[in-house]
Amino acid sequence: MTEGQGGTAVEVKGLVKRFGRGESLITAVDGVDLDLAAGSRTALVGASGSGKSTLLHLIGAIEKADEGVITVGGEEVTALGRGPAARYRQRVGFVFQRFHLLAALSALDNVLAPVLPRKVDFDRAARAGELLDAVGLAGRHQALPSQLSGGQQQRVAIARALIGRPALLLADEPTGALDSATGEGVMDLIHELAEQYGFTVVTATHEHAVAERAERIVTLRDGKIVSDVASEGS
Ligand SMILES: Nc1ncnc2c1ncn2[C@@H]1O[C@H](COP(=O)(O)OP(=O)(O)OP(=O)(O)O)[C@@H](O)[C@H]1O
Ligand SMILES: [Mg+2]
Repeated sequence: MTEGQGGTAVEVKGLVKRFGRGESLITAVDGVDLDLAAGSRTALVGASGSGKSTLLHLIGAIEKADEGVITVGGEEVTALGRGPAARYRQRVGFVFQRFHLLAALSALDNVLAPVLPRKVDFDRAARAGELLDAVGLAGRHQALPSQLSGGQQQRVAIARALIGRPALLLADEPTGALDSATGEGVMDLIHELAEQYGFTVVTATHEHAVAERAERIVTLRDGKIVSDVASEGS
């Protein structure tokens, strides 16, 4: 899985994830089949508890599936042991509702943090600086999170998600903590960067205007896909 060449394709077949047991058994993802084209931009929507986050966690190997197969860029994610799964996660970008920035570190150091302990084949500091510029934070590289607005903090988190040159970006309610105009701007930015860098994007969201910014909208209900349509905006 490498950056460029139009991202990476994701194939999900017969995916099942359960939590709990007995009377408290919940089937969070219940037989999902989903193919995402390389470089595509998809929104995952559905009521609270419909399985959006769980599906993202399974694709990102944060959680392990009970049944089914996930293939990302030709690699069978569901077959990976702990070590290979950890290495796979380093090649996936994650953006969350909460920005999870380290308060004591500058924007630049937050972006650098994921790759500091790793061997990489690019100039870390140069790429971190380029990414901060690309997310509209030129001139704010040394700002602390507390000195940045919510939208700006999420932009730092997006730059951080991209530092390892992911071919796949998984975003879980990336606009959930932002007002609607700022959130829509953040979603547009993610999609612009996807085009520029060629990665594939999957975004879980509750917001219609955010979902409409994707090319495709997949709706989950009780862990099942109940609708899969091209977005009207695309
Ligand atoms: N770690 C867990 N342990 C037990 N149950 C869980 C766990 N994670 C998720 N669930 C359950 O699985 C179902 C799907 O949850 P999930 O978080 O994927 O939904 P969601 O669509 O992301 O919801 P929201 O829109 O509120 O974020 C829910 O019923 C939830 O309670
Ligand atoms: Mg969720």
